[in-house]
Formats: sequence, structure tokens, C-alpha cells
Amino acid sequence: MKGMNGALRRVKMIALLLLAAAFVLSFAACKGSAGTASGGQSGGAAQADTSAAADDLPDISGGKDAGTGKALVIYFSRTGEQYTVGVIEKGNTAIVVEMIADRTGADIFEVLPVEEDYYPYTYSELTEVAMKEQDEGARPAYQGGLPDLSLYDTIFIGAPVWWGDWPMIMYTVFESADFSGKKLVPFSTHEGSGLSGFDRKLSSACHGSDVLEGLAVRGNDAQNDQDKVRGAVNDWLSELGF
Ligand SMILES: Cc1cc2nc3c(=O)[nH]c(=O)nc-3n(C[C@H](O)[C@H](O)[C@H](O)COP(=O)(O)O)c2cc1C
Repeated sequence: MKGMNGALRRVKMIALLLLAAAFVLSFAACKGSAGTASGGQSGGAAQADTSAAADDLPDISGGKDAGTGKALVIYFSRTGEQYTVGVIEKGNTAIVVEMIADRTGADIFEVLPVEEDYYPYTYSELTEVAMKEQDEGARPAYQGGLPDLSLYDTIFIGAPVWWGDWPMIMYTVFESADFSGKKLVPFSTHEGSGLSGFDRKLSSACHGSDVLEGLAVRGNDAQNDQDKVRGAVNDWLSELGF
């Protein structure tokens, strides 16, 4: 059994290393095409990601029905040292959140870990913590409680892609409330993985919700090419009916 666990762990490590390699290669390709990469469903990685899982996808029939009633944005984002952008004072995902709120007037809830230093400041240490928590299926506690969800029809939910998935603290959020009957709109920031199945995973975690079309934005663009990102965000929101 011990040998079996060791083998499983090795397989997982190899898979993660392959994912990391794809992530780095994809970023190198992006850098080579100076500013061509953008968020949205037009992002190559996001398309590959979503089409690969087409059979499993929830009903992401798009919007036209989301822009009524009050909206909420729930998000997680890190400052400190980040991939490709150096030390940042506003997280990449947080920048997208502001754009969504500007356009929709949505209320905002930031997911913060209870332990202030739970996530390290340096990028390399953060990747290790994130890999460990994913490996263990951790559910880090977050501060406070969610706002009263009965006040909202549409809930945007955003985070950085971490090792091809939502950061584990987001699963703590998904499992801490009843999202059934809500329109959920996922969005990611990333450096090559696109939406990374955020929509499908959100639908699995939040039974009875209606997951609408998501948006994937390059983190580097969120910091350095905000006109382009705002355009992509506004187009996406228009499609959703906002
Ligand atoms: C722990 C960790 C894991 C990451 N894994 C991926 C990944 O699998 N795919 C990807 O495209 N980007 C990955 N990234 C890059 C982030 O998704 C990207 O920098 C994001 O914009 C950070 O957003 P934030 O500033 O809001 O935290 C990773 C970054 C970190 C810190």
C-alpha cells in the first residue's frame, strides 16, 4: 500500500511537472508575439481547455439573461511577487474585478485566508504551498462570511489559475454556501492555461447553479495592457446582458 501511494505520488508529480512545462512554454510563446495574447474565449489556451472537456461542460449557453438584479463578485487574488509581472501591489484578478464592478455596479467580496501569512510573498514559495494544498485537497479557511446571497441573482467568481485549477481556498468558498438557483459567472487570470475548466469545476462544486460563459484574461495583460482587457471584459459583459 505504501509502495502504491509512492507510485501514485510520483505519477502526480510527473503530471504537475508536465503542466508546469506547458505553462512555461506557453508563456514563452506569448512573449514572442508581443501583446497578442488576451483574455476572453478567444485565448488559444482557453479554447483548447474548454473544447477538450466539451462533453463534461455545464450549460454555458451564454447570457442575455444575467444582467438583471443585483450582482456580486467573489474573488481571490494575490499581491507580492507574481509570475511574469514581478512584485505587484494590486493582484491581476483584482484588476479584472474592478473592471467588472465599474460596468455592472456589482458588490465585491474578497476571499482572504484567515491566517494572514498563509500564502507566501515570493512566487516560488507560493507555488510550493499551492501544490501542496492541491495535493492534499486542502480547504484553507477564509475570513468572515459571504454576504447574504439571497440579495444577488448573478455572482461572478474569479481567481488565478493555480496548477490548472481553482486555488483550494475557492473550494472552501464553494462548499460554504448554497449557490443553487444562482447564475454563476467564472473568470480566471492565468499565464497560458486559459479558463482551465473553471466553469466545469464550478458547476460540479455548486450543484443546482447555472454556470454561464466564463472569461480568461492573461495576468500580464491585466497589469500592462488594461485597455485591451477592459475591451474584452466589456464585450463579455455585453454578451451576458450587462
Ligand atoms: C501557485 C501558482 C500556480 C500557477 N499555476 C498556473 C497554471 O497552472 N497555469 C497558468 O496559466 N498560470 C498559472 N499561474 C499564474 C497565475 O495564474 C497568474 O499569474 C495570475 O494572473 C495571478 O493572479 P493574481 O495576481 O490575481 O493572484 C500560477 C501562479 C501561481 C502563483
